[in-house]
Amino acid sequence: METALVQQNNIPALSIGAFTATPVGLIVSDEDVPFEVWEAYGKALHRVEGAIQWVRGDWLNEGERRYGEKYPQAIQEEWHAEYETLRKYREVAQRIKIGSRLPNLSWAHHLEVAWLEPEEQDCFLALAEENEWTRAQLRNEIRGWKRHEKAGAPSGDLADGILVGSIAEVGDQVPTGSVDLILTDPPYGEDAIHLYGELSQLAARVLKPGALCLVYSGQVFLPRVIEQLGMHLDYAWAFAARHSGGNRRIYKMNVNNGWKPVLAYVKPPLEPWWDSFIDITTGGREKDLHDWQQPEAEAAYFIEHLSLPEGLILDPFAGSGTTLAAAKALGRRHLGIEVDSDSVSIASDRIRQVHDPTEARQ
Ligand SMILES: C[S@@+](CC[C@H](N)C(=O)[O-])C[C@H]1O[C@@H](n2cnc3c(N)ncnc32)[C@H](O)[C@@H]1O
Repeated sequence: METALVQQNNIPALSIGAFTATPVGLIVSDEDVPFEVWEAYGKALHRVEGAIQWVRGDWLNEGERRYGEKYPQAIQEEWHAEYETLRKYREVAQRIKIGSRLPNLSWAHHLEVAWLEPEEQDCFLALAEENEWTRAQLRNEIRGWKRHEKAGAPSGDLADGILVGSIAEVGDQVPTGSVDLILTDPPYGEDAIHLYGELSQLAARVLKPGALCLVYSGQVFLPRVIEQLGMHLDYAWAFAARHSGGNRRIYKMNVNNGWKPVLAYVKPPLEPWWDSFIDITTGGREKDLHDWQQPEAEAAYFIEHLSLPEGLILDPFAGSGTTLAAAKALGRRHLGIEVDSDSVSIASDRIRQVHDPTEARQ
């Protein structure tokens, strides 16, 4: 279809093929327009209708890019009355690049996320699309997340929450000698082995003397994981977490793997104050929130046996917040670190829904 800007009685109009849209209506100049063309035009109108703020915002940004100073002056003169509205269109279009805009969501949804960081925008837009949130629901979710993020930063006194960033970046915000138990599940790949060393260093500083650091590990790189964890902590024990979702064939060893180690390290001295309990556990299979999600019942098992009510539980590789949710449900204080912002919002939503049994007492 040919597109042209035309003048109808001195009024500017937009012409596409036989269709001319004017400020007062549509003129169809050809009696023989095929049905398909008529239909395609209607569909195009429908899509553009909800996108007019984008189109105008992009048009303004394009004007600025091409014509520089001439552009704001023209806008001021021509559209003085709606200058603020146009400025908003322009800024939203500038802040959310065309490739990140989701056609199933309204421009107003995008306005809600426009002043977040690009990766946060992507995360909230994807969640809004997936969960079919209205604009108001999206706004509430963002507010809740911001409140939670602020509450998560420990400031002198201990606070519950999640620190957003890698342990190397934000680990130093965890107060020294404050943590009663670390229960964590770092990534397993060979390129992640150094993280066990970073964990060992962090744990040696933040754990109380005698407190444990429990670490899920795969079997493949176990000697190197042990070496890294032992750099700043003492080895205490190896627990077994039995897979509940069936065994996994390991071709390299020709075995059906049915368990994984949960290594226990201690910040000396080791003084087992807890009641004895069996060193094998198993939870259900839970993978709906994170690809590497661990069962909450397993976390609860360790937390219940190895920490006291109101103790502080730290998970420096929090993922979907399994350890933190289990800790909160057991009336422990909890603190997480997580580098991936998608996981952070999943974890904070999850934790917010957990009832804290100590709340009634506060
Ligand atoms: C195996 S997953 C943890 C899954 C978690 N146990 C659960 O149940 O959801 C490891 C997590 O560590 C995070 N991570 C990776 N490197 C990190 C780092 N340097 N600092 C903090 N978190 C990191 C990943 O984004 C991932 O969510």
